[in-house]
Amino acid sequence: MSDKIKVVVSRAIFDDTIAQLAQHFEVVSNQEDVLWSRETFIAKLEGAQGVFTTAAERIDDELLAACPQLRICANMGVGYNNFDVAAMTARGVLGTNAPGVLTETTADLGFALLMATARRITESERFLREGRWKAWRYDMFAGQDVHGSTLGILGMGRIGQGIARRGAHGFGMQVIYHNRSRLAPDLEAACNARYVSKDELLAQADHLVLVLPYSPAAHHTIGAAELKQMKPTATLINIARGGLVDDAALARALADGTIAAAGLDVFEGEPKVHPGLLSVPNVVLTTHIGSASVPTRRAMATLAADNLIAYLTQGKALTPVNL
Ligand code: DGY
Repeated sequence: MSDKIKVVVSRAIFDDTIAQLAQHFEVVSNQEDVLWSRETFIAKLEGAQGVFTTAAERIDDELLAACPQLRICANMGVGYNNFDVAAMTARGVLGTNAPGVLTETTADLGFALLMATARRITESERFLREGRWKAWRYDMFAGQDVHGSTLGILGMGRIGQGIARRGAHGFGMQVIYHNRSRLAPDLEAACNARYVSKDELLAQADHLVLVLPYSPAAHHTIGAAELKQMKPTATLINIARGGLVDDAALARALADGTIAAAGLDVFEGEPKVHPGLLSVPNVVLTTHIGSASVPTRRAMATLAADNLIAYLTQGKALTPVNL
């Protein structure tokens, strides 16, 4: 038996991160590329004081009750809707996330999805790969303009502001946004953004990007009624969390032309994808890769590991979300 503190790493991660943790702790890690079952996860956590998690592992009261030694859950991601924060706080368990280090990379992906969706890039590529391209045509994969259009942003945190700056300064877009609270004037000026009501945002945006955090109160923020408020030429981009959008309603709206197209990096119940979304051509689908550049994924892993080390060895985490 080791006398080191035990920590568990729930998913395959960089060897360097495991080595960083192993300097301080006994590390039990999941280096197979499959999710542990809930039972296996709880069994692995026996005696562990810390756990390195991703958005896929639910940390709730049932798990906390089964793991009374647990003191910290360190998420490798800025979103932490996998945490039941109230239950963690009630049991004195700290949660940490990884903000800041992924802002620009995720904003890049948001913009990449917006471009690919508006300009029908993946539809065109599929057509070409299927050997169906016989001649140039005036209307072949004609999509929507990005430059000069109206960019709507729902959720104006760091990533939302990054997308707004790209749109305003790179593509001459008019930026409108809706958020729980209005940005300070200097932040609005930095991304040339105008605060509007949610109804105005839905009605005026040519491209609407969702960047708000998920919470039960935000479940299905975009459903059939909201999709009907949008322009028939509009695109919807979701790089935040799947539960924000009613995917069944979105699939219907894409099929019947309520909106023009969507670009989705996240899904309700991912990695499962609603079959209606798989069967329509006007949607670009990616595998929750918002923060997936090598340097950013390294920075996220390092920050999650730093949180475990700082809290379990010195009692103070770098980026706590509770306690
Ligand atoms: C995040 O940082 O929240 C990403 O979605 C990865 O989980």
